[in-house]
Amino acid sequence: MAQKIVHIVGTGTIGEPLIHLFADKREELGIDEVTFNKRTPQFTDRSKIQDLLRRGAKLACGENVKADFENLGMEVSYETEEAIERATVVIDCTPSGVGVANKQNFYEKYDRPGKGFMAQGSEFGFGKPYCRWVNEDAIDPAEDRFVQIVSCNTHNMSAIINAIALRHGEDNLVEGNFNCIRRGSDVYEDKNIGAPEVGSHKDGAFGTHHARDVWHLYQTQDIDLKLFSTAMKVPTQYMHTLYFDMRLKQATTEEEIVAHFHEHPGLSTTYKKSANSVFAFGRDHGYMGRILNQTVLAHNTLKVLEDGKRVVGYCFTPQDGNSLLSSVAMTMRYLYPDDWESRMGTFDQYLFDEV
Ligand SMILES: NC(=O)c1ccc[n+]([C@@H]2O[C@H](COP(=O)([O-])OP(=O)(O)OC[C@H]3O[C@@H](n4cnc5c(N)ncnc54)[C@H](OP(=O)(O)O)[C@@H]3O)[C@@H](O)[C@H]2O)c1
Repeated sequence: MAQKIVHIVGTGTIGEPLIHLFADKREELGIDEVTFNKRTPQFTDRSKIQDLLRRGAKLACGENVKADFENLGMEVSYETEEAIERATVVIDCTPSGVGVANKQNFYEKYDRPGKGFMAQGSEFGFGKPYCRWVNEDAIDPAEDRFVQIVSCNTHNMSAIINAIALRHGEDNLVEGNFNCIRRGSDVYEDKNIGAPEVGSHKDGAFGTHHARDVWHLYQTQDIDLKLFSTAMKVPTQYMHTLYFDMRLKQATTEEEIVAHFHEHPGLSTTYKKSANSVFAFGRDHGYMGRILNQTVLAHNTLKVLEDGKRVVGYCFTPQDGNSLLSSVAMTMRYLYPDDWESRMGTFDQYLFDEV
């Protein structure tokens, strides 16, 4: 049987935990080898690279920097293109725009049946958007060999829309308005902003790209949603927070919504009020400090108005855990199309009904 090799490109905020996760869960998931590409050799990254190597992942880099990596004490196993050619699944975790360039320059060269390629975030032009539980049926791993794992905020917004509006039918959402209150920087980043900063509404009828990204995700199922988003950054490093205001055709109740959240594995509620207390729960009870839920609904903010046909509230985006879970799910769909879902069971313990 052909070897099952997972290759991650980029060792940043998304790439590093993915390499770590695949290396740790390699046997449970049925993966033969985990490889990763790093572009820049530098002292500051040495500790994380050495830890990933210790966990069994193997480093690839360009021929021109191989000696530099080795002089810094990081063992190199493969050259950049060689690693892409060997891999069964490639997960590109580079900044926006680089994934599409990598597709054109490298991935298309090595594309063949049985392989799969993913990019992260708002990487339009790479492949079909995918979000665990939202559009499973829209993806055929045999046909859709290029897939875009949507961003953490797209996961949150689409999970909330699914749970509150579309569970009563795909035409049940009259319109949805969202305010993405974004963390100024990630916990890994040194930069931060000093004060709340509003974004501009550059995106035609959608406001910001967040609503447009969700619209594209639902388009994979031929669902046309009326959505508008606005966005702002606040000076915190802990999670994004989302305010939603949805108008529905069919009336609902707060009890019904909360019951649905507790029945569905990707959804969570919380009585906590701050992003840092939700983040801290992830640090103490999650996997690599993260919960893997798609969204965490702030219980006390949920309000059903106008005879049950308008629902407002806040929810937290669980850092990047939702994107990581979709990346693993799509990898398993490529590697084990028949029993991928049962193999994902190892992550159930990090999906909480209540935080
Ligand atoms: N951060 C999040 O919470 C989050 C959540 C969901 C999705 N995403 C998406 O995930 C993607 C990656 O985001 P991130 O936050 O992980 O970025 P990041 O921390 O800046 O890391 C980017 C990585 O890509 C590598 N890289 C940069 N340019 C490259 C190139 N031309 N070729 C090969 N490698 C290159 C860098 O490697 P070197 O160190 O070797 O230079 C770095 O390790 C983005 O599309 C983002 O929108 C991010």
